[in-house]
Amino acid sequence: LNTEDEQTEDYLFKIVLIGDSAVGKSNLLARFARDEFYPNSKSTIGVEFQTQKVEINGKEVKAQIWDTAGQERFRAVTSAYYRGAVGALLVYDISRRQTFESIGRWLNELQTHSDMNVVTILVGNKSDLKDAREVTTAEGKALAEAQGLFFIETSALDSSNVSSAFETVVREIY
Ligand code: GTP
Ligand code: MG
Repeated sequence: LNTEDEQTEDYLFKIVLIGDSAVGKSNLLARFARDEFYPNSKSTIGVEFQTQKVEINGKEVKAQIWDTAGQERFRAVTSAYYRGAVGALLVYDISRRQTFESIGRWLNELQTHSDMNVVTILVGNKSDLKDAREVTTAEGKALAEAQGLFFIETSALDSSNVSSAFETVVREIY
């Protein structure tokens, strides 16, 4: 993409958040966009999005981050959600193994509904829950490597790596 002229700031990158219910998708977005965290947040119903400026190599780009429900019954039209997406955060909860085991299904849905070259990062969220961990960092890394994804562990609660997760995707798209 063009990096030379002022039009750069007009680029709007659509990035989608996907993963099982309650892995922390909405809180990752709330932390990134508004530096907020909700200890008792409700399941997302339908689709929400937020536009957030991201600085990459001293240039400002805008990321339009889409968030939907992990639960099938609360989701809107799948094809519309993925349409035009150039980046994806594929989120699981390191303290619930089941959410890690769902990753293959989410990846499949992503690949079915979006362009082949969507920049995708596998995100192991809730890294603050050290004593409840059910998925090791090595397992996350190995899956990401096998599927050709970026990988990071985050905590929306204590903020660790949240910006990095989004910025990694934006930087690669850019
Ligand atoms: P759906 O909208 O149903 O798909 O869920 P979601 O993936 O958006 O999850 P949400 O952000 O609503 O978070 C679910 C629960 O996990 C909430 O109680 C959050 O407070 C909690 N949570 C989210 N991120 C973290 C985190 O990094 N650490 C901890 N300890 N809890 C978190
Ligand atoms: Mg949500």
